[in-house]
Amino acid sequence: MQINYQPIRTYEAKNTNLRRTRLTGRGNSCIIPPYMAAQTIVFANQKGGVGKTTSAVNIGAFLAEAGKKVLLLDFDPQGNLSSSVGAEREQPGSYELITEQSNYQQVVQETTVDNMMVIPADINLTGANIELIEAEEREHYLKKAIAKFKGDWDYILIDSPPSLGMLTLNGLVAADHIFIPLQCEYFAMEGLSQLLKTIRMVQRSLNPDLKIGGIFFTMYDSRTNLANEVVQEVTAYFKEVVFKTIIPRNVRLSEAPSHRVPINQYNATCIGAKSYQKLAQEVINRV
Ligand SMILES: Nc1ncnc2c1ncn2[C@@H]1O[C@H](COP(=O)(O)OP(=O)(O)OP(=O)(O)O)[C@@H](O)[C@H]1O
Ligand SMILES: [Mg+2]
Repeated sequence: MQINYQPIRTYEAKNTNLRRTRLTGRGNSCIIPPYMAAQTIVFANQKGGVGKTTSAVNIGAFLAEAGKKVLLLDFDPQGNLSSSVGAEREQPGSYELITEQSNYQQVVQETTVDNMMVIPADINLTGANIELIEAEEREHYLKKAIAKFKGDWDYILIDSPPSLGMLTLNGLVAADHIFIPLQCEYFAMEGLSQLLKTIRMVQRSLNPDLKIGGIFFTMYDSRTNLANEVVQEVTAYFKEVVFKTIIPRNVRLSEAPSHRVPINQYNATCIGAKSYQKLAQEVINRV
């Protein structure tokens, strides 16, 4: 199983964000943190069903539990992220936000998790896919919309659909980091070269600041040789870009969305919850 890898730009040390600004006034000088906008992370992989939505919801929930202010932004017309956290999908959401039919205050909703809110999506967003094709600066709509409230959050997590179309491109342009969930199976790796090509194209022309913030494995089953091979091969190539925490296959993770709550509120002690909690801690340490 060979992937057409080429050099890629990955994440930089977190401390590069920690520059401090010196302000001087009336003879006193003081050091204050600069205006810190949210770290914006898009969960992307054009392969369907690899754990994009599950990871956005549950990493988000554990970031919030750790005291971070988290905004989940559903940018997939399937609206799975919205229903996973009990959002009312009849309300205006990300489509109305980017088309300026509604403002930020009108689209953002509470979730059951303190510190975590959501901008929902529904099938209306499919329209954006088509409408944006004709628009000027069509890849920048989400970035422009997010710019207005980026300063209100520690993390903005964008869930994207299983394609490399206009919605995912908008996500890649809006984000500082892409997180790539990989299911531990042969076909999961097949799409990786195409995804990396798209990332390089975006880095070259649309968003030079985009970094591969992390790759992580989902639905891991230690009993299968193939799962182990996939983990070894991807880790050997991407090295420290790969998060250490591997998310196992765990039925509780697939049950939680039908209860419309993240895993920390459905079954906080299951292996799926523990794993996402560890992964969220790695995220905090990295971005
Ligand atoms: N670690 C896991 N263990 C068991 N089931 C899981 C796990 N992660 C995700 N699932 C289930 O697998 C299915 C696909 O997951 P999810 O919806 O997160 O993938 P996705 O990449 O967002 O899919 P899509 O591309 O359709 O948006 C869902 O039914 C989800 O509940
Ligand atoms: Mg999804």
